Amino acid sequence: MDYDRVKEVKAFDDTKAGVKGLVDAGTMNIPRIFIRPPEEIAQDLNCLTIPLQVPVIDLSYIEKDNHRRKGIVDEIRIASEKWGFFQVVNHGIPSSVLSKMMNGVRAFHEQPSEVKQQFYSRDRMKKVRLVSNSDLYLSRSANWRDTMSISLLLSDHLHPDELPLACRDSTIEYIKGVSELGDTIFELLSEALGLKPNHLRDMECSKGRGFACHYYPACPEPDLTLGTSKHSDPAFLTILLQDQIGGLQVLHENQWVDVQPIVGSLVVNIGDLLQIISNNKFESVEHRVLANRIGPRISVACFFRAFAASSKLYGPIEEMISEEIPPVYREFLVSEYITNFHSKPIDTSGLDHFKL
Ligand code: OGA
Ligand code: NI
Repeated sequence: MDYDRVKEVKAFDDTKAGVKGLVDAGTMNIPRIFIRPPEEIAQDLNCLTIPLQVPVIDLSYIEKDNHRRKGIVDEIRIASEKWGFFQVVNHGIPSSVLSKMMNGVRAFHEQPSEVKQQFYSRDRMKKVRLVSNSDLYLSRSANWRDTMSISLLLSDHLHPDELPLACRDSTIEYIKGVSELGDTIFELLSEALGLKPNHLRDMECSKGRGFACHYYPACPEPDLTLGTSKHSDPAFLTILLQDQIGGLQVLHENQWVDVQPIVGSLVVNIGDLLQIISNNKFESVEHRVLANRIGPRISVACFFRAFAASSKLYGPIEEMISEEIPPVYREFLVSEYITNFHSKPIDTSGLDHFKL
């Protein structure tokens, strides 16, 4: 590297204005800390995106029709094994709750910088904070994205006053809806693994939620950077709300596939921790977000990752192990997983560290 990257990264971080600050200042050439290594860009040019669709699963009538529920469980099993990703429609969260959440996140990121800067922090103990690039000091190139995060990793308790005024009511409603949906999906995933419906919930997989409220400003040079680098998720499960702009891609059979936005839908994906406890039956698939000349793009990821201070040991579930299929991973605490995740750039695997 022929420049003092750390110095430039720190100068950017010290503005506390994020990528949105650069765009507001009229930046037409993206600063070099955001530019991907040339070999990475070249690799992408050789790689076509294929016109496939991530499975779309209709969740209507799952409680009322047992036959239908079995069919849905099958669809979820196949999607979780083959794609690690699916979209859900008729999931029970009213579209007004989704659009209000989006508007709230947008309002948060678009408030005057003096107000926003007060939230800017890299202290992961803070329940609510704003940061640009959680791995800013570790990654080779920064992403064209700012994120407001809400952490319920230590406890479920959240007083409305702890939330930014700009998105308070919408966030409370969305958290309630997505948490209930998470419980339902964990039931279906348990059944898809051949376990009792409450198995994953009893393991507290649906506890310890974290919300990443992303803001991807329009990018003047989208071919040189990414909105989010390729990564797999540090969670059991992620439920993602995205707007209609698009840019999310999943790596499927070594090719990038666009996750087409569908109005009113939510994207669900298997995270590293579910790949581990399912002993590789379900796959935590790599995904990324392209930068775009059009923006802002808004998305909200809800990660279910168990309470950070949990004393439970997680490893492959007994029922997932047999003589033919020995355990692939050792047991560990969630806190150990999280510490490891944050010690590396997001584009390196969080799984290897726990392989036997
Ligand atoms: C994430 C993620 C995708 C998006 O937050 O882990 O993959 O569309 N987000 O913002
Ligand atoms: Ni992700």
